[in-house]
Amino acid sequence: MPAASKIDLMVLGAGAAGMICAAEAGKRGLSVTILDHARAPGEKIRISGGGRCNFTNLHCSPENFLSENPRFAISALKSFTQHDFIERVKAHGIAYHEKTLGQLFCDNSARDIIEMLTDDMRAAGVRLELSTEIFEVGHRDTHFEIRTSNGVWHAERLVVATGGKSIPKMGATGLGYDIARQFGHSVTETRAGLVPFTWASHMAESWKSLSGVSVDVKAGCSGASFREAMLLTHRGLSGPAMLQISSYWRDGERLQIDLAPDTDVTAILKQARSDRPKASPWSVLADVLPRRLTQKLEQELASGAKRLADMGNSAIEDLAQRLHGFGVVPGGTEGYRTAEVTLGGVDTTELNQKTMESRLVPGLHFIGEVVDVTGHLGGHNFQWAWSSGVAAGRFV
Ligand code: FDA
Repeated sequence: MPAASKIDLMVLGAGAAGMICAAEAGKRGLSVTILDHARAPGEKIRISGGGRCNFTNLHCSPENFLSENPRFAISALKSFTQHDFIERVKAHGIAYHEKTLGQLFCDNSARDIIEMLTDDMRAAGVRLELSTEIFEVGHRDTHFEIRTSNGVWHAERLVVATGGKSIPKMGATGLGYDIARQFGHSVTETRAGLVPFTWASHMAESWKSLSGVSVDVKAGCSGASFREAMLLTHRGLSGPAMLQISSYWRDGERLQIDLAPDTDVTAILKQARSDRPKASPWSVLADVLPRRLTQKLEQELASGAKRLADMGNSAIEDLAQRLHGFGVVPGGTEGYRTAEVTLGGVDTTELNQKTMESRLVPGLHFIGEVVDVTGHLGGHNFQWAWSSGVAAGRFV
């Protein structure tokens, strides 16, 4: 067995958080090694944002995050903001654009962001070890001992940046949670977030024919709501509105979906009743909603009345109400297989919010998705990776 390599800092996980942290610490003169079992660094960055990486959000603020302790993220988000990251992107000459709602994407490719991070690590003298399996992480006297398929390291400080459980096919594992527990940390309940819903079995057969229909909705549950697009698929409900609300949803809960937000359906139907009394309410609604969806809703919500002229005010108001508050109880979600993030994680009450250092084991830090901080869709999760990574990198 070769002698252990002695270093100042070991970072586990060469993803978004790990790489920015390693570069930051390397810049301060520390000897840093970063390990990953993948063959390439930043695999999730590569596939993110449809290959263009939605790397941050202009409007990112602590309100865009879920955590058992919502105040925990404030300090890191303030000390390295979206504007700080944008400055780095500009300094590297990476072209980008705002798509919608403050979401910033690379013009060219997500690989530009990976290259920026690997360049920064190289410039800071960070050693990157890929295709490396981590066998055991121990703590002896003054150092951490990391036993791997590539040798043994003794590091004074250890940063765990191994991400969450989403998309195991991309190399996601629960290693970070295991290490946290091993060192006496609590891990809050973890579950899939930013994930499509699946149809309940009684809906699957009849609703899957609407696959491909997209509609602007306001979707709510558990006190949260999002006004974005909803996409019907043959498996269930997807699109940004559904991914966002999935992070708030619990098994068995009803989603409240306003199918025509900002549209006064009652007024439209009453006006149509005066102008075209023989028209069916559904032919009028086909101007407001996608036609295939209207046909399906006609079957689901059939009011009995065939003509607007036969509908009294209360029947019209009742129909409008049902469209503004369409209720669906999903069968479940697609789970970690397709989830963008893992909700929950290393309990923040045992971490220092400025440095991400463990309050239980000096020298041990947790950053990025492995921590119980989860962002909304739209670049917030990468911003948390950058902010928490830099926070740790400046203090380790
Ligand atoms: P990340 O998962 O990036 O990195 C963890 C690293 O640890 C990986 O390289 C992994 O291989 C390694 N690792 C794990 N277990 C290991 C083990 N046992 N041994 C060795 N190494 C191990 N967010 C956003 O803001 N904008 C976006 O556009 C998108 N798009 C997007 C698309 C898709 C398909 C997904 C799945 C996710 C997104 N996200 C996103 C979320 C974003 O990718 C995520 O929040 C960050 O990558 C988290 O960064 P971390 O560095 O914490 O983990």
